[in-house]
Amino acid sequence: MNIYAIESENDVIGARHFIRDLVKEKGFGLIDQTRLTTITSELVRNIVLYAGKGQVLAYDVMNGSTNGIKIEFKDSGPGIQDIEQAMQDGYTTKGGLGAGLPGSKRLSDEFYIESESGKGTKITVIKWLKA
Ligand SMILES: Nc1ncnc2c1ncn2[C@@H]1O[C@H](COP(=O)(O)OP(=O)(O)O)[C@@H](O)[C@H]1O
Ligand SMILES: [Mg+2]
Repeated sequence: MNIYAIESENDVIGARHFIRDLVKEKGFGLIDQTRLTTITSELVRNIVLYAGKGQVLAYDVMNGSTNGIKIEFKDSGPGIQDIEQAMQDGYTTKGGLGAGLPGSKRLSDEFYIESESGKGTKITVIKWLKA
């Protein structure tokens, strides 16, 4: 497991580098590297914007003989009140584009949100290495 702490806006770039290095090392191609760094930018930006700080945790995962990476984006911020609504294209509570969550889901192989009001949010992204 590898961990990257999010404390400020600067960590958006730091987390991108952290994820790019890891997934390159694991053998993901350029397109998937870009998908994963784009997801990281969006979800870390959300942590900075809505929760202030948090963490990115990366794990190696396996399904049969298929290797992959699981990335968790965690914070102890206000939580997402209505996850279904937050996943809609264009939905924003801060005048953003409302594309971060739905766009990240489209770029992922698996995408899960766990969030509790007042307790925080954990978004899990999995990407599998295709042969
Ligand atoms: N980590 C988070 N904690 C609390 N609320 C969040 C978090 N991430 C996203 N949200 C909520 O979900 C909404 C949609 O997020 P997103 O799709 O990235 O669009 P945008 O950031 O442009 O508003 C945000 O406006 C915010 O209300
Ligand atoms: Mg966003």
